[in-house]
Amino acid sequence: MKLIVVSNREPYRVEPRRGKASFEKTVGGLVSALEPILRKNGGIWICWGRRGQKTPLEVWINEKFLMKQVPLTSADVSEYYYGFSNETLWPLSHMFLNRTHFDDSYWLGYRRVNRKFARAVKEVYQGGAKIVVNDYHLALVPKLLKDEGLNDPIYFFWHIPFPPYFMLRFLPQRREILEGMLGADVIGFHTQYYVNNFLECVREILGAFPDGNTVYWNGRRIEVRAVPVGIDVERWERLRSDPKVVRYAKNLRKKLGVDYVGIGVDRLDYTKGLEEKFKGLERFFEKYSSFRGKVSFIQIAAPTRTKLEDYMDIKRKTDEIVGRVEGRFGEPGWVPIYYYYKNYGDERLASLYMMSNFALITPVIDGLNLVAKEYVASRTDEEGVLILSEFAGVSVQLREGALIVNPFDEDQVAEAIYMALKMKKKEKRERMRSLKSVVTEKDVHWWIEEFLKDVSA
Ligand code: UDP
Ligand code: G6P
Repeated sequence: MKLIVVSNREPYRVEPRRGKASFEKTVGGLVSALEPILRKNGGIWICWGRRGQKTPLEVWINEKFLMKQVPLTSADVSEYYYGFSNETLWPLSHMFLNRTHFDDSYWLGYRRVNRKFARAVKEVYQGGAKIVVNDYHLALVPKLLKDEGLNDPIYFFWHIPFPPYFMLRFLPQRREILEGMLGADVIGFHTQYYVNNFLECVREILGAFPDGNTVYWNGRRIEVRAVPVGIDVERWERLRSDPKVVRYAKNLRKKLGVDYVGIGVDRLDYTKGLEEKFKGLERFFEKYSSFRGKVSFIQIAAPTRTKLEDYMDIKRKTDEIVGRVEGRFGEPGWVPIYYYYKNYGDERLASLYMMSNFALITPVIDGLNLVAKEYVASRTDEEGVLILSEFAGVSVQLREGALIVNPFDEDQVAEAIYMALKMKKKEKRERMRSLKSVVTEKDVHWWIEEFLKDVSA
């Protein structure tokens, strides 16, 4: 069946280069999840664009896959994207009430842009399609489409944590957001915990009566599903045996000249726990002095939402702490933390995952976290150790094989690093096998099939 995917973030940045367009995949879990599906099965992806942009708003990515951009004005981008999406819904959903801004102009912009997206879907809609609306940017779109009388089922996936009632209640537009989402026939979240929060909100705010994971609202029946997104395992397996990727990994490992390497890959977001991670590393080097000079940690921090003060603030803080650790423990010839404020393509990431003895993933709260799954899928040798925050949604799936930590507990993070370095081969193998079986079985194709299962009668 034909897919119409709708999200704010565009899957590719198109750059005109010497008369030919070049495509660069954008960064973030949503695009990493949906891009392989559309590339393989085809469909239309509706996403944001800029009014007056140099490249065409409609681009065929391959013969079956069309990217269609909705042109936004700069007021749209500032009120809807930076404003309501990323200064209101994002912090509120991640439980940062102190970073949440309430502003009427944000809400007006959000409503306006959601209408633009709904109109764009209607323009391409011909019937007989599955419409998959994504994330907190577009919560009003399902209802706008349903009110237009679209017959096909509408699927809506919320890719970040869904807040409990005691957080969502602060939002002046809490009712409109829930009603907007309930325009869908199926609503998906990564974990049952988020589903429960959603059902609680629907009960407390709308006065609806959910029955199990089903909500009855305005004479309609809406299924709520817990289906964690997966990754394109085949792609990561291909990458890990690509000679270029292997060569880069080997050369880099040699150049680093240390016994152990750790890796972290995150957008530079205040939810990702980078400060906590570096404090854990600092504690590790403080406590286990014999490892100084022997362990280096590489952190990729991909720039994101850089115009917002909270993101500038986290950048300042992480710069400062990396500098502090370097100043305290670094020596000529040894760097404790290599820190790169840029984003990399998946070939480079695969090399970094492959050559590291451990991955340290410490969000203070995260909807899921695909990097954890990518690390597992990139290992050929069943040797790497995954250290994972209990506050990442993915910990529900990976808790058997990973070393689970509370990132606020610096000592626990330091101990986990020590355990990872001292772990016997047999235990590493057993843990990695357990992780691999989950990641492989519940890959991105499993996810889309489960999420898009027909609505039961
Ligand atoms: N990513 C990337 N280049 C980078 C950093 C990250 O392509 O430099 C990708 C990464 O491989 C992963 C996604 O961005 O697929 C991040 O997804 P995740 O679920 O971990 O977190 P999110 O960014 O969606 O909060
Ligand atoms: C998270 C959100 C996505 C978003 C991504 C990157 O994964 O769930 O919707 O695309 O972060 O953020 P950005 O603001 O750059 O699109």
